[in-house]
Amino acid sequence: MSLNRIWRFKMHDQVGDLQVGDVAIDTDRGDWGHVEVPGNWTMQGYDRPHYTNVQMPFSNEPPTVPKMNPTGVYSQEVRIPEAWDNRRVILHFGGAESLLYLYVNGEFVGMGKDSRLPSEFDVSSYIKCGETNLIVAIVVKWSDASFVEDQDQWWMGGLHREVYLYSTDSVFIEDVFCGASLENEYRDGVLDMSVGLGFSGHLPEGWQVELQLFSPSGQAVYQQALDSEAIASESRSRYRLCAKFNECLRDVSVWSAEVPNLYTAVLCLKNADGREVEHTSMRIGFKAVEVRDRMLLINGKRVLIHGVNRHDHHETRGKAVDRDTMRQDAVLMKQYNINSVRCSHYPNDPYWLDLCDELGLYVIDEANIESHAFAPWLCHNSSYSLAFHDRGKRMVERDKNHPSIIAWSLGNESGHGAHHDGLAAWIRHYDGSRPIHYESALWDMYGTNDEHAYDKGYAATDLVCPMYPTLELLKAWAFDEQHPDQRRPCILCEYSHSMGNSNGGLSDYYELFKTVPGLQGGFIWEWIDQGLKALNENGVSYWAYGGDYGDEPNDANFVCDGLLWPDRTPHPSIYELKKLAQPVSVSLVEDDPVTLSFRSRFDFIETGWLDASWELLIDGRAVADGAFQLDSIAPGSELNVVWQSPKDTYKGEEAALLIRFVSKETQAWCPAGHEVAKEWISLPKCVLGGQAEAGATSQSRNSGISQICQNGDLVLVKSGKLIVEADAQAGGLVRLTHAGREILSTPPQISLWRAPTDNDGIKLWSGQENKPLKRWQKLGLDQLESRLVDFAYEETIPGEEVELRWGFEASGRQEWQDFYWSYKITIRDQETVDFDFHVEVGNEIEDLPRVGAIFTLNPRLEDLEWLGLGPYENYPDRKSSVWRAVHRSTVDQQYVPYVMPQENGLKCDVDWLTLASDSSLIKVESHLPFMFSALHFHPRDLTNAFHATDLVARPQTLLCLDIAHRGLGTGSCGPDTFAAYRLSESKYDFSFKISIT
Ligand code: GAL
Ligand code: MG
Repeated sequence: MSLNRIWRFKMHDQVGDLQVGDVAIDTDRGDWGHVEVPGNWTMQGYDRPHYTNVQMPFSNEPPTVPKMNPTGVYSQEVRIPEAWDNRRVILHFGGAESLLYLYVNGEFVGMGKDSRLPSEFDVSSYIKCGETNLIVAIVVKWSDASFVEDQDQWWMGGLHREVYLYSTDSVFIEDVFCGASLENEYRDGVLDMSVGLGFSGHLPEGWQVELQLFSPSGQAVYQQALDSEAIASESRSRYRLCAKFNECLRDVSVWSAEVPNLYTAVLCLKNADGREVEHTSMRIGFKAVEVRDRMLLINGKRVLIHGVNRHDHHETRGKAVDRDTMRQDAVLMKQYNINSVRCSHYPNDPYWLDLCDELGLYVIDEANIESHAFAPWLCHNSSYSLAFHDRGKRMVERDKNHPSIIAWSLGNESGHGAHHDGLAAWIRHYDGSRPIHYESALWDMYGTNDEHAYDKGYAATDLVCPMYPTLELLKAWAFDEQHPDQRRPCILCEYSHSMGNSNGGLSDYYELFKTVPGLQGGFIWEWIDQGLKALNENGVSYWAYGGDYGDEPNDANFVCDGLLWPDRTPHPSIYELKKLAQPVSVSLVEDDPVTLSFRSRFDFIETGWLDASWELLIDGRAVADGAFQLDSIAPGSELNVVWQSPKDTYKGEEAALLIRFVSKETQAWCPAGHEVAKEWISLPKCVLGGQAEAGATSQSRNSGISQICQNGDLVLVKSGKLIVEADAQAGGLVRLTHAGREILSTPPQISLWRAPTDNDGIKLWSGQENKPLKRWQKLGLDQLESRLVDFAYEETIPGEEVELRWGFEASGRQEWQDFYWSYKITIRDQETVDFDFHVEVGNEIEDLPRVGAIFTLNPRLEDLEWLGLGPYENYPDRKSSVWRAVHRSTVDQQYVPYVMPQENGLKCDVDWLTLASDSSLIKVESHLPFMFSALHFHPRDLTNAFHATDLVARPQTLLCLDIAHRGLGTGSCGPDTFAAYRLSESKYDFSFKISIT
């Protein structure tokens, strides 16, 4: 009987304000408020969400908590059916944050802890069947338990998971533990099921437990009934009395994330008269998990872990994630080629595990234990030992039958102490079918940082599962041949911190995962930005983070570090993961005829369910397409295929194939036609029948200059419809007009600054002296002011070309003495102006965010096209998934609205771009590949904003043309941008040709 509904609710500021009347039956609750269950009261107008990472939200030491302690009283009247008389009646609370007390009909029943596991109460002797009963649940926010629930997330409050009543006979199925493993080369299934019976006194004679097993397609494959005698003689193990079913099933349909084959077991308990008193059913997956030879083997295969860390989070519901949203998460993960999920950092709603079983995701289930603020202490402190143990054991008890779980995690960031070793020992004994995972068992490494750093913590972890390691550390561990640990594989429990515009260098990690034995993937931090939807003073909605509720102390926007926005819209970086994790890839193996190698990275399934097609791109534009007739490729194999090129010949500079793999049919997690993988392949020149016709621009050199006026510092040049105005005092070029329309009305500026990404430095945190944000700000890069030092104007050949030159110096800032830049404008003809830039930076700058120029273009140039990488945002260290083509967009669509405004929208490896309005078209080209962003925001606007709602779009287009741009890295938590993607030159020369028609 579901009790998910509106409950009466009253909130006290402290536990001491509770009154007897709060739980009494005769209290008039007419003036109480209402809240929805499941739900967080913090999302329903009571108390407030509070975000902290490591620090506790209050200053008390364990186990004491503040006197002010939000305390919610829930009440519900429930009519219990008459038919439940003389039966057991159980009240189930799926999760309460944090401490739960239960009163039924005014009487105290019991209490429970662990916000992320259920508490069940046997209320049989407290209720009256056939009558209305009063249930009162008191939920207290802070307790001794808060110190082991110090995860990096919002502190909420309330009954955030489902609540229901159920009833059984006095003899009942107490527990089922279903082992479903594999033998004979992972072909045959071994069923080892124990059904524990509950009863009081003696089990009456003649009772039976019956098991029926159905295959994934619904065929009955096994049936067995055990009577009390058989049960009694078998029972020696975990349960007081237990029916044991052991069976070997030949050629079983194995469970994996790729093919999540689920059998269904139906259990029936019959009394001595043969009456069925209870049924239950469960889904079973036959699979095997082993750790050996530095591999985690699933069904005998070294499965690469393409994982993410997932918190329970919903932008309006907080921790009370509804089932549709959970399904959406699982479906999205599958669609982005994610095969694994770590339940960071606590057992999720069991429905989540059902989805992982059903749709196929490998799960690390994690105990709700994080004592981060007191990490090295509580794990040794005997008064907390039961808390640690209980949390781990109860997780295993709740979740042991889910095939999707491949490892048990002892929790997160709690140091390594005796409690961990003890809990690990219990789990290993109880469920030997899964390895143990615990990152902090490696913590001794801090400070040592050598190649043996990961030879630690054997008692508490079977996996080497560090967080945020550098590539160097991973290689040092993997390539050390003297390494004593030849058993455990390394699977990163967290890496590639996705805060804001991030995930730079993901492909470098993947390069290691795909090639280095021992390194077997990892879990990106994290799935979703944990922003909460809130309204600002103007009634406009925005995503709130720490501090937005007046919550002090807080850790600002560090809670927004996911691959998805809080409303589950994907960040551009998720496509990078999708590409790197894609299960099929293509490479060119021969030029003539064009021969492609198709490689399957599936572990278990053939590729026959995919269709492959190609598009031929000439100079970035699609000119022909077709389908590949592929034979199905076996898991892990390759297939060479000659591409049947079209009969036509194509003229152009470059040819490429864009190859797509789509699902032929609708799957449980995608519609037919869903794109699973993509590859862009540059084709050899021989594919092209001829060269492109020479462009019009190179034909004429006649500038058509009709007028040049110079008046002191002012210069005006008129060439056809083009008018260039310059003012030596006002920073060089001041106006560019074409056919009477102003294109530029402010001078282009050199730009060496980008609006800091979260990885460059977290804007709301001070005192981060070593962070690039601080360093770059200290250098004054965010406010470059230039002083003209040199100015020249030259008419090279009268009437043909005019050259205007300016040199600038940064205005006398101390740190900046030897910084210099200059630019030269050449008016080439009636449409074209060349900009040549020269930048010299001083020695104190080892590394810059960007080098380029910024143009403020006048309004209406909205339509954007470019030949380069796209279609979405990409950066020098995050461009594996984008492809080279002519992409179209608008300036409006270029903005990527990270929760914390920051640098965004860059496009790399660009040959040219155009911006067009109804009447004008501007084309930018360069002889070197360049990068650009075109936004309605200046980098300064993005720097100064703290929420997307702080930004006011400018009517102009801010066009950043960069010759160099620092990679993104993941420095907000983890290594800074790798050296290869940093800018270390001291001189830069670059040119852009801008034509206007
Ligand atoms: C890890 C931690 C996560 C999260 C992350 C940073 O240290 O396990 O819970 O805090 O860093 O976002
Ligand atoms: Mg933490």
